[in-house]
Amino acid sequence: MLSFRRAVMGDAKSLYEWRNDKETQRNSHSSRSFDFESHCRWLQKSLGSEDREIFIAIVDGAEIGMVRRDRLPGAPESADWLLSWIISPAVRGRGYGSVMLVQFVTQYPARYTAEVKSDNTASIRIAEKAGLRPSFMVLKNYE
Ligand SMILES: CC(C)(COP(=O)(O)OP(=O)(O)OC[C@H]1O[C@@H](n2cnc3c(N)ncnc32)[C@H](O)[C@@H]1OP(=O)(O)O)[C@@H](O)C(=O)NCCC(=O)NCCS
Repeated sequence: MLSFRRAVMGDAKSLYEWRNDKETQRNSHSSRSFDFESHCRWLQKSLGSEDREIFIAIVDGAEIGMVRRDRLPGAPESADWLLSWIISPAVRGRGYGSVMLVQFVTQYPARYTAEVKSDNTASIRIAEKAGLRPSFMVLKNYE
């Protein structure tokens, strides 16, 4: 069974490792890596922000991934939150990504969008399964 808890500063190391993983970097807006100190500053600020929420997904007591949502300012017809997610590199390809996102949008219902790179097949599948409206799934090629 998968559960969520709010991220805390004690998650800084895991989040840093997952974020600096090569595949995550390739699929992120910014492909650069960050040093641990600036990551910790970013996390501290994020945890204090009303416009960003970070959740850690747990399976059998192990932290397997994270979901983050960023509040979108916007028009009434637009989505409320931008979603992003990472599965720990150690446990990818086991179906956790799909289970995690489906459960997240069920447990925390809202109008979500996601920006996914057009060659990130796994994330496109996951977003579809979680029912993200196709028009809300922005496929992008950043470089
Ligand atoms: C993308 C990511 C979350 C996928 O998590 P995962 O637990 O490995 O994915 P799952 O095992 O749940 O697989 C989901 C689907 O993608 C497919 N898939 C998994 N890995 C794949 C790969 N490397 N290439 C193509 N398809 C893949 C699975 O077959 C499954 O499809 P199906 O439902 O048709 O069977 C994970 O690889 C990751 O954290 N990547 C780096 C961060 C990232 O890209 N985040 C998204 C940014 S928005």
